[in-house]
Amino acid sequence: METHVASKRSVTDVIGTDGAALSAELLSMRETLFPPASQKQLRAFSSVEAAKLIGIGDAYLRQISLGGKGPQPATGSGGRRLYTLEQINELRRLLDEGSKGRRYVPGRAGNEACQVMAVVNFKGGSGKTTTAAHLAQYLALQGYRVLAVDLDPQASLTALHGYQPEYDIQANQTMYGAVRYDDRRRPLSEIVRHTYIAGLDIVPGNLELMEYEHETPRALAERSAEPFFGRVATALGSVADNYDVIVLDCPPQLGFLTLGALCAASGLLITVHPQMLDVMSMCQFLLMASDVLGVVQESGGSLDYDFIRYVVTRYEPSDAPQTQMVAFMRSLFRERVLTHPMLKSTAISDAGLSKQTLYEIGRENFSKQTYDRAIEALDAVNGEIEGLIRQAWGRAA
Ligand SMILES: Nc1ncnc2c1ncn2[C@@H]1O[C@H](COP(=O)(O)OP(=O)(O)O)[C@@H](O)[C@H]1O
Ligand SMILES: [Mg+2]
Repeated sequence: METHVASKRSVTDVIGTDGAALSAELLSMRETLFPPASQKQLRAFSSVEAAKLIGIGDAYLRQISLGGKGPQPATGSGGRRLYTLEQINELRRLLDEGSKGRRYVPGRAGNEACQVMAVVNFKGGSGKTTTAAHLAQYLALQGYRVLAVDLDPQASLTALHGYQPEYDIQANQTMYGAVRYDDRRRPLSEIVRHTYIAGLDIVPGNLELMEYEHETPRALAERSAEPFFGRVATALGSVADNYDVIVLDCPPQLGFLTLGALCAASGLLITVHPQMLDVMSMCQFLLMASDVLGVVQESGGSLDYDFIRYVVTRYEPSDAPQTQMVAFMRSLFRERVLTHPMLKSTAISDAGLSKQTLYEIGRENFSKQTYDRAIEALDAVNGEIEGLIRQAWGRAA
């Protein structure tokens, strides 16, 4: 017994050592995943993909490129033309110059306001980060100016964009830096980073975000600072001019950061996997959120949404109980459930294994059927959300 106690390492030692070993190992894995500089880069797009993204025919795109107008694509194997996203955006601008009616650069104009999407739910694993990452990247690929914000201390959205949260993100380099209560607070514009995807910026996250949950009760007691529920909105407002859409990936709890996100949002996306325990958990989330937000509203917090939508995630149409659950939600919430569900797909989870979204991985990496089915579902979900954003701007969806 004695020897056992003597040889027993302390808990903090064991998990601290394990954490450090894991961090070092993950870092070296990144070097093999993203050679040569262990940095992520966005792939180039085939002429078919580029034409589809721009919204013109492949033949017209060829005519522009062969006519020597606009950016010249690289030629890949077999003479395939390959366009970078920068070139696709340049083509959009070029087309807009000559166009009378139709606009190819889709971003907001006039008095259309920056749209803030909060992706929320209590439940870890309900697909918040997957939804937020694919939505942000989808919108950037369409040519919108997008800011993705990681509010989860677990920082999966940050990791998906090529960062290792405990290594690449230093103190005061997350949203916490812009909402903290002391005099080390700094402008969000100093915290925003460009990503390897043109038009997509990110506010990364890491464990530091937890500080906000600890400091807010203290600040509440002192009643001197701007209240917690307005601080995320204020920080986002300081950079909103630079973006068409802001996407907030929330932590799996109804803490002060999530409440701040709910107050900053113009659209709510509540992700739900259509299974009994998940739906029951969401019920708790809705009841508690409604309670807490009621109190926030009484204290002067503004909650003015253009839309609220339930996003069905990881859906398996061949699973009868899931199909029944989706039908049940549709009968209760009607148009508030997105028409298109996000299907469960190994293409999505496999992409996640190499810290990528499906938009980053080419079709050649999967069986065509698997890839097409997943990308169709993604485009349908994201296209529907894009339609809601355009409606909020008063345009046709
Ligand atoms: N449509 C999908 N098909 C397959 N796997 C998915 C899908 N959406 C999410 N996943 C996987 O489920 C897990 C949890 O998703 P995630 O987006 O991280 O949830 P949350 O952010 O709500 O915790 C991840 O491993 C992710 O790769
Ligand atoms: Mg997450």
